[in-house]
Amino acid sequence: MTQVDRTREHLIETYRKKAKHYDVTSRLYPAPGYPQRTQRLQAVRALGLRPGDTVIDMACGTGLNFPLLEKVVGPGGRIVGVDLTDAMLARAQDRIETNGWSNISLVQADAAGFDFPPGVDAILSTYAMTQVPECAEVVAHGAKALSGGGRWAVLDLKVPDNTPGWIAQLGTAIVRPFASIDEWTMRRPWDAIRVAMQEELADFSWTELFFGTAFLAAGSRGRSVSMDTDSPSASAEVGG
Ligand SMILES: C[S@@+](CC[C@H](N)C(=O)[O-])C[C@H]1O[C@@H](n2cnc3c(N)ncnc32)[C@H](O)[C@@H]1O
Repeated sequence: MTQVDRTREHLIETYRKKAKHYDVTSRLYPAPGYPQRTQRLQAVRALGLRPGDTVIDMACGTGLNFPLLEKVVGPGGRIVGVDLTDAMLARAQDRIETNGWSNISLVQADAAGFDFPPGVDAILSTYAMTQVPECAEVVAHGAKALSGGGRWAVLDLKVPDNTPGWIAQLGTAIVRPFASIDEWTMRRPWDAIRVAMQEELADFSWTELFFGTAFLAAGSRGRSVSMDTDSPSASAEVGG
C-alpha cells in the first residue's frame, strides 16, 4: 500500500466516524464562530450560476452546499455530488429525500479518478480539496470538462502567511480531521491548487478570507464572470 493509499484509507475511516454528527460538528469547523456559511455563500456566488445550470459539488460530504446551489440553479438545473466516503453520501441522500429534491444525483468516487462529465457549467469544492493529494490534477481534469464560460471555485482552509510555523502546526493539528497534518502544513496544497487554477483557467482570482485562514480560488473556461466577495478582508488578484 502506498502512502497515498494509506492517507485515503485513514480519511475514509475518519469521515465514516464523523458522518452521523457532521452537520452539527462542522458548525464548529475549524473553530466556533468561524464564518463558514458566509464563505460558502461567497463560493457559490463565485460560480456565477444561472437557473437550469449543471454543477458538480466535488467532495460534497453531507451536502451542506446543496440548499445554496438549489436556490440558484432551481428545479430545472442539475447538481451532481461526488464524495469518497459512503457514510457522508448516505447523509447527503437523507438531505435530498428530506427536501424532496429530484435534480441531485450522488456518485461515490475518488476525486482523483473521477470522470468529469463534459460540458458542465460549474464545479465547486468546499473544505475538501486540500485533503486530496492529487488536487492539482483534479483541478486540471475539471477545467477540461467545463463548458465555455463554465466556472471552477475552490474554497478551503490554509495556513495564514507570516504565521510562525509552530503556531500554524498547533492550530491545524487541533482542527484537522486527519493524521497527516504535518505533511499538510509542509506540503501547502493551497499553493498547488492556486498554480493549477492559474494555469488551467482563462481568468483567475484568489481571495484570502478571514485573516488568511481560508482561500477562495475561482476562474472560468472562456469568458469571465464578475465576482463579488463582500469580504472586508478580501484581496483578489486576477491573472491566467
Ligand atoms: C471537511 S469535509 C467537507 C464536505 C463538504 N464539501 C462541506 O463543505 O461540508 C471533506 C469531505 O471530502 C471528502 N473527500 C476527501 N478526500 C476525497 C477524495 N479524494 N475524493 C472525494 N472526496 C474526498 C471526504 O469524504 C469528506 O466528505
